[in-house]
Amino acid sequence: MRTITELLELLQPGDPVLLRCDLNVPLDQGQITDTNRIEASLPTIQALQEARARIVLMTHLGRPDGTDPVLSTAVVARSLQELLGSEVVHFDELPPGPRFQEQLEGLPEGGILMMENLRFHRGEKSNDPQWAAALANGCRYFVNDAFGCSHRVHASVVAVASCLPSFAGLLLTREIEILSRLRDDPVRPFWIIAGGAKVRDKIGVLAHLAQQLDGVICGGGLANTLLEGAGVPVGQSATEPDSLAQMAQRLDGGTGQGPEMVLPIDFITGDDLIDPTRVQQIVSGEEPEPGMMLLDVGPRSVELFTRKLQSARTIFWNGPLGVFETEQFSGGTQSMAEMLAQHPGQVVVGGGDSAAAARLFGIADSVHHVSTGGGAALEFLEGSVLPGIAALDADLAGGSQ
Ligand code: 3PG
Repeated sequence: MRTITELLELLQPGDPVLLRCDLNVPLDQGQITDTNRIEASLPTIQALQEARARIVLMTHLGRPDGTDPVLSTAVVARSLQELLGSEVVHFDELPPGPRFQEQLEGLPEGGILMMENLRFHRGEKSNDPQWAAALANGCRYFVNDAFGCSHRVHASVVAVASCLPSFAGLLLTREIEILSRLRDDPVRPFWIIAGGAKVRDKIGVLAHLAQQLDGVICGGGLANTLLEGAGVPVGQSATEPDSLAQMAQRLDGGTGQGPEMVLPIDFITGDDLIDPTRVQQIVSGEEPEPGMMLLDVGPRSVELFTRKLQSARTIFWNGPLGVFETEQFSGGTQSMAEMLAQHPGQVVVGGGDSAAAARLFGIADSVHHVSTGGGAALEFLEGSVLPGIAALDADLAGGSQ
């Protein structure tokens, strides 16, 4: 895989570069609520600007079904323009045709022309080679800096890499470096904090890393499922009992010799995830009141987890320990986040919800890395070859340069 460092040596001022970023940011009533992905993409954009490339920037936004004005990338272009302090021209016609080419030709060196939401066109998700060729038209090089969608076989990530000499951007390169170390050669003891709602999503990662994993702090759906399996009452909490056998088999081949699994010992229970009318603290083994769910871990669990993680030298945090968006159930996740911010080991945060929690509790700058990939980070850690990265490795057009 060639990286942008090599491209910067090849680039001539004015060369048009097609840049794929993952600027799929959360929106609330048309406003961006978290600019992290845009900020994380700035180093590559700025490196290309400094090399005086003309940049054609593309991203998807949300999951539209055809054209949807609410999901226009114009709002992203405005935010990027503010963060960069230089003009970002938004172009709203897809596929990019002759008018787009005129705009590109008129773009100054270091200028940025941003395409409309790629997912407005069905060729994007079907990895259509013709759509990819239309995206690449008029450009000389392709840079993929979109780690967050490199697990998708989409035209702007995969097919386009066979149209132009292709390079990995700075963010993509950093994500690959950090996550590869975690996956292949973590400094031990290595622990994972596995929370969040979906158990099935975690099994692949835990199973793939099991050989070098010393322990797992369990929260959320994983904790509830394991507790229920051990006969501990979990009230109305969501569990995935079907995952239990699969987990035992894949983590230690059914031998019981796998990594240490640490379960919470007390809980905050509630009758509703968002707007609870009843909230109670109970210890493990106590029957929750009728209608109550385990919605956060309690303070004694946080103490236990903190003790367990004291000697860890690598920690991967995937998934919050409770429903952290609701104040009454945010305490466990906030305390863990604050502990991780002070931890001397290498702490990597991955997965959309834990990354959001890290930012909400103000610890994102205090840990080693917060991955911009949700599904992509998990698939990478499961040992899958991400199609977007494989496409750069293949770089079919690269031989011509
Ligand atoms: C993400 O938000 O994880 C990426 O931008 C990919 O988006 P998708 O899950 O809609 O493909």
